[in-house]
Amino acid sequence: MNKIIYLDAAATAQKPDCVIDAEMDFLRNSYANAGRGICARAVAVDDMVARARGRVAEFINANPNQVVFTSGATDGLNRVVNILSWQMGYSTMSNFTVSDIDHHSARLPWQELMYLGKIRKMFMCELDENLDINPNSVPKTDFLVITAMSNVLGRAQDVAAIIATARRKNPNVVTIVDASQYVVHEKIDVKKWDCDFLVFSGHKIGADTGVGILYIRDSETLFPDKFGGGMVLHVGDIDVARKASYGAYIYENEPSASIVLNHAPEKWEAGTLPLTQIAGLGPAIDYLEKNRPNLYLIKHAYDELSQIPRIKILTGRDAAMLSFVVDGMHPLDVGAMIGANNICVRAGNMCASWIHMRLGIPGSIRISVGPWNTIDDINKTIDVIKKIVK
Ligand code: ALA
Repeated sequence: MNKIIYLDAAATAQKPDCVIDAEMDFLRNSYANAGRGICARAVAVDDMVARARGRVAEFINANPNQVVFTSGATDGLNRVVNILSWQMGYSTMSNFTVSDIDHHSARLPWQELMYLGKIRKMFMCELDENLDINPNSVPKTDFLVITAMSNVLGRAQDVAAIIATARRKNPNVVTIVDASQYVVHEKIDVKKWDCDFLVFSGHKIGADTGVGILYIRDSETLFPDKFGGGMVLHVGDIDVARKASYGAYIYENEPSASIVLNHAPEKWEAGTLPLTQIAGLGPAIDYLEKNRPNLYLIKHAYDELSQIPRIKILTGRDAAMLSFVVDGMHPLDVGAMIGANNICVRAGNMCASWIHMRLGIPGSIRISVGPWNTIDDINKTIDVIKKIVK
């Protein structure tokens, strides 16, 4: 059987043994629910979840109570809109700002809010000649969504400068960073960036699908968007709630529904967490920090493919991925032909329609690498591409 060459790390990373072992060990030897049990095994799961949270917090320079487990970046980006909608009550929000390098999940929840009439205007950040967000172009805005690295162009954005401009123009701006691609390649520091929310998915950093991270700066003061088990300390009689000395907040609007919320982060995590996937998160981060993708492979692919006249490369030599189009061929056809040679690349609009619209193309073909890739993988892929476009 031919070996598969997997060059689609940006869609999802292959899993290192340490992640698979941690998940198998949890499933085989330590499985129980978290936040609910009082037996030793359940308490051990609480400890495992706390350790994973602490590791994520250290990884992005947050406090553990600002780190919320979600099902992925898309979930996190949708939840931020819901959290802010709860916060706004019935009043209409004024405007939000996005850019053309956004993934669909960063902008669509806001656009839908606009279609519902709950937010009035959408502004755009300008992109410069390299298709980077120009920090000076950030308008005065109430909500700013920043894609820290495009999943098509693979360039790290100057998130700190973008946020600084936005705050100069409106000190109350709420900033939301989609770090799904950035996190694989660069160190994140939420304090330096000064962002209000940040999301990424576990599966792109070598952890499993079904777990993601939502950083919430004001995690104690904001009101949660999801309700259910594990997020309330007390439900019911308001007098009992008042007497609870350890509750974080008491809401009194409707006595029969009065609740005392748990402190953050638990108040953000209604329902059972994706525990198996959380067991793999810490090992995935440890592994990633020692094995960032080798971007020399992308440079090498760039040097080779840029010599083929029918190929137009959309990304820079220093980018974290290589996206291209072939003159006279649809990207999906090219992707399918590469795939027929047991080479996995991504082709299409990459859930990033706006950058493709701006470039006037229906989609592109993307090569992205992880720690498992070798120069041989790239050379074989280049040979296949040369045959396809000859
Ligand atoms: N957003 C992921 C990608 O870029 C799935 O492929």
